[in-house]
Amino acid sequence: MANRFVLNETSYHGAGAIKDIVPEAKGRGFQKAFVCSDPDLVKFGVTKKVLDVLEGEGMAYELYSEIKPNPTIENVQTGVAAFKKSGADYLIAIGGGSSMDTAKAIGIIINNPEFEDVVSLEGVAPTKNKSVPIFAVPTTAGTAAEVTINYVITDVAKNRKMVCVDPKDIPVVAFVDPEMMSTMPKGLTAATGMDALTHAIEGYITAGAWELSDMFHLKAIEIISRSLRGAVDNTPEGRADMALGQYVAGMGFSNVGLGIVHSMAHPLGALYDTPHGVANAIILPTVMEYNAEATGEKYREIARAMGVQGVDNMSQEEYRKAAIDTVKKLSQDVGIPADLKEIVKREDIPFLAQSAYDDACRPGNPKETSVEDITKLYESLI
Ligand SMILES: NC(=O)c1ccc[n+]([C@@H]2O[C@H](COP(=O)([O-])OP(=O)(O)OC[C@H]3O[C@@H](n4cnc5c(N)ncnc54)[C@H](O)[C@@H]3O)[C@@H](O)[C@H]2O)c1
Ligand SMILES: [Fe+2]
Repeated sequence: MANRFVLNETSYHGAGAIKDIVPEAKGRGFQKAFVCSDPDLVKFGVTKKVLDVLEGEGMAYELYSEIKPNPTIENVQTGVAAFKKSGADYLIAIGGGSSMDTAKAIGIIINNPEFEDVVSLEGVAPTKNKSVPIFAVPTTAGTAAEVTINYVITDVAKNRKMVCVDPKDIPVVAFVDPEMMSTMPKGLTAATGMDALTHAIEGYITAGAWELSDMFHLKAIEIISRSLRGAVDNTPEGRADMALGQYVAGMGFSNVGLGIVHSMAHPLGALYDTPHGVANAIILPTVMEYNAEATGEKYREIARAMGVQGVDNMSQEEYRKAAIDTVKKLSQDVGIPADLKEIVKREDIPFLAQSAYDDACRPGNPKETSVEDITKLYESLI
């Protein structure tokens, strides 16, 4: 079978990119925006940066902000009802993965109402129509939901995060403006940045990886490794590089999949509301050790992209260790905890392991896995 590669239509990068929303909307003949954002972004004036641009040009919009981190089916359904009443003809998502993913689910359901239960969208859903057009403005440098064909919604009743994969949801235009990210506190910058690094590393070693996706992932590993510490210190260069690095990772992993770091992180988001990036960052080095035997020479390239010197003179054991140690060091430097002791309760591990095994990212793992193996991996982290 041929390899498919889906990218968004247009993207703007750099400080001030949000100003291009107006000509893009006008050029497409859009009349009214349904703006999806979250309550904290509204409170801290981040959403306002975009609303000011719209108001300055007399562009109509309605704001919807009932979106929580790790967004739920209810957040989506309330949004669908509000969209229907609004008379809007396009969506603007302003936020992290939570706002962008909710906007995707709303846009898909509006044009494919037979999926209004939301649960039927899990996995690869047979939707017929493209989403309502989405403009995406990321405010974290992590998920790259502005350029991916995925969205993740929590089914609270089942304590489950549903990964939905649908090329029809990809935002038509992304406005990747580092100034939208400058208000992120250190911990959020670190966690979302480590999510992006996890996308790049899992995407590089995933079962479906190939030359085209490798190009994006190796570049993303390089950019993220050199710039995350700067972004945590809120330097303009660090912010700009992280905005780009996470986006480049998204261009890759959206097309080839991920692995069990994400499968193991998703149940922690569903059960404990653990921030997605924190969960990934803690799990990543342990799963890298587990997967190493199935990755050929790839850890040599990961180590090289992360700036490790002398990788060509290292044995397999040495370069694998170097790659894992460099990830651990970065994680530690940006303040990520070393284990899941404060998060996971031992009695929950059977549920977590089964849920991770059933997750849509698990088949992409480079090594065949099992509920037993995943159980041991969780146990080793508490
Ligand atoms: N669609 C995809 O491909 C994809 C990929 C990875 C993760 N996800 C999903 O995305 C969600 C996580 O998204 P996220 O990590 O971007 O965080 P988020 O959207 O959940 O936001 C987390 C918190 O950070 C705050 N915040 C965001 N930007 C800020 C800013 N600039 N300044 C101050 N505060 C800010 C928000 O208000 C919120 O309280 C999870 O549900 C995860 O499963 C989706
Ligand atoms: Fe992620």
